[in-house]
Amino acid sequence: MSITINQPLDMHLHLRDKAMLKTVGPLSSASFSGAIIMPNLVPPVSTKEELIAYKSRIIEACGEDTFTPYMTLFFKPSYTKEFLKSVKDELTAIKLYPAGITTNSEGGVSGFDVNELRPTLDAMSELEIPLCIHGETNGFVMDREAEFVSIYEMLASNFPKLKIIMEHITTRESVEALDKFDNLYATITLHHLLITLDDVAGGMLQPHLFCKPIAKRPEDREALRRVALEGHPKVMFGSDSAPHPQHTKESCGCAAGVFTAPIALQVLAELFEGHSTIENLQAFVSNNAKAIYNHIKVPHKTVTLEKKPFIVPAKYGDVVPMYASETLAYSIVNIQG
Ligand code: NCD
Ligand code: ZN
Repeated sequence: MSITINQPLDMHLHLRDKAMLKTVGPLSSASFSGAIIMPNLVPPVSTKEELIAYKSRIIEACGEDTFTPYMTLFFKPSYTKEFLKSVKDELTAIKLYPAGITTNSEGGVSGFDVNELRPTLDAMSELEIPLCIHGETNGFVMDREAEFVSIYEMLASNFPKLKIIMEHITTRESVEALDKFDNLYATITLHHLLITLDDVAGGMLQPHLFCKPIAKRPEDREALRRVALEGHPKVMFGSDSAPHPQHTKESCGCAAGVFTAPIALQVLAELFEGHSTIENLQAFVSNNAKAIYNHIKVPHKTVTLEKKPFIVPAKYGDVVPMYASETLAYSIVNIQG
């Protein structure tokens, strides 16, 4: 059994900076044609100069690989139309974080006052800049995403020309919202297709599966699997691969994030094949993203996977991946481009 994927895309990726970027950048650029790069550095990427400089550090870290980093800025309601016009050609989207909701998001938005957000969101609509959102309130942890759906709906109806991407959705409620508004789209991670809260905290605590949003209930995972496996056109793969050094995961006060970039395509192949939907994997990992982000240029690359055991390394540098030291059913056997 072998499958070839054209131009695989990861539409939500954390590459970090400095030594960590040098470790993890090549693990994505080896097998993906491109990725939407999250801006939650310290401090977050929020000026044109920072964005351009970060992009060149990513390109340098990825060496000779054919890989396009699609850059994002950290949303601020102070961004003016003039500023957005001046930076538009350098970015692919803007990422909005509610203040303090996840790693390095302290400078995010609080309150979601539509009048405060309107000038920036109107300008983004006009300039056709998509808005990616980490959709969680600061309510009870299992309810945060479902509670945020009303904010997604408020934004989708107030800004009908703005493409809004619900990032890393984890719930049935978010899946249902997708079909209610033409301008709502979603990314789904690898780990949320595979695990539930039981895998994180049902037995011994598993810090390497702890992330924001937290994995939810079996019925939520079912809803995510349904739309991913059918290749629903409004849903794209976004790994949310979020590396943290081992000591910050295996510690009191575990950092949130699951590191999946180097195993993502192999595990997706196994998941889709196991559900007899392998023909929809191309849509989920590339075609849907190209249609939704219709301005992006995607470099040519094909990745061939075969049903052949792959033993996941225990660590990549100082980062422990999901399924560390376990054996996966699929291996990458060839990459062209
Ligand atoms: C991400 C990180 O570590 O940057 N963590 C996570 O648990 N997903 C941030 C994010 O996307 O929420
Ligand atoms: Zn993320």
